[in-house]
Amino acid sequence: MQLSGKIALITGGGSGIGAAAGRYMAKQGAAVVLAGIPASGVQAIADEISSAGMRAMAIPTDVTSGKAVQAAVAAATDTFGGLDIVVANAGVQRHNTDVNLFEMDESEWDRTQDVNLRGVFRTCKYGLAQMIEQNRGGSVIIVSSITALNGRTPNVSYMTSKSGLLGMSRHIAVHYAKYGIRCNAVCPGALEQTPDWEDHPDPGGREEAMIGATPLGRLGTADDIAPWIAFLASDESGFATGGTFVVDGGITIA
Ligand SMILES: NC(=O)c1ccc[n+]([C@@H]2O[C@H](COP(=O)([O-])OP(=O)(O)OC[C@H]3O[C@@H](n4cnc5c(N)ncnc54)[C@H](O)[C@@H]3O)[C@@H](O)[C@H]2O)c1
Repeated sequence: MQLSGKIALITGGGSGIGAAAGRYMAKQGAAVVLAGIPASGVQAIADEISSAGMRAMAIPTDVTSGKAVQAAVAAATDTFGGLDIVVANAGVQRHNTDVNLFEMDESEWDRTQDVNLRGVFRTCKYGLAQMIEQNRGGSVIIVSSITALNGRTPNVSYMTSKSGLLGMSRHIAVHYAKYGIRCNAVCPGALEQTPDWEDHPDPGGREEAMIGATPLGRLGTADDIAPWIAFLASDESGFATGGTFVVDGGITIA
């Protein structure tokens, strides 16, 4: 199996892409650590994977807390014996309030950045520190978005955070290659549900618009994205670093 013997920490692992990546990577032989909130979400996914006979654990972790992220990395390392893969995936999308830059409070802007950009900074900071200390290389996968590649979304702090993640990914790729650490970004297109889906103001309209704009004619699923994350985590992708992998049914180039 591609990921035999590897240990992976996945933020936002209690639902969506993070949960799908956890299931997929566990099947590929990795020990997976689902880190995220709510605690019930990450626990349910860890229980599901464990009860199927694979290695998983849940660590309730709010990525807006550096101490919590540091503790999650330490717990993952202590339990499974190291850290080889970090999937920085946790994210929010404040559909109704992350709009209208000209009248937005700074606190509104900051709420998205604190999870989507600073949260990934914290995840990479503590993940990289562990990888460097153990000196056996590693792979970091940052979940960005096609909103980093065009101006379509009204959610301005969200798209700015996702654009910033491409810079962070390239920085890590260049400056940590000397430690044998790779870093790549994945940009999912329009999936069936987004973060904070229950708050979306017009799910039906969004579905129609996104299907119409996507050449493959359907919305994506978390299971469409998980294998890409697993491949970038594996040694089979060993010559890929600093890349931006767009998995979007063609919407970006249409
Ligand atoms: N769904 C899409 O269409 C789409 C498209 C492009 C990019 N993405 C990105 O993919 C990633 C996963 O999104 P998803 O679609 O699976 O949605 P999701 O809501 O299922 O996943 C996001 C996860 O992050 C968790 N989370 C939120 N705040 C957190 C915090 N402070 N600390 C820890 N965990 C926190 C959520 O509880 C959730 O489990 C996100 O970064 C999102 O921006 C999604």
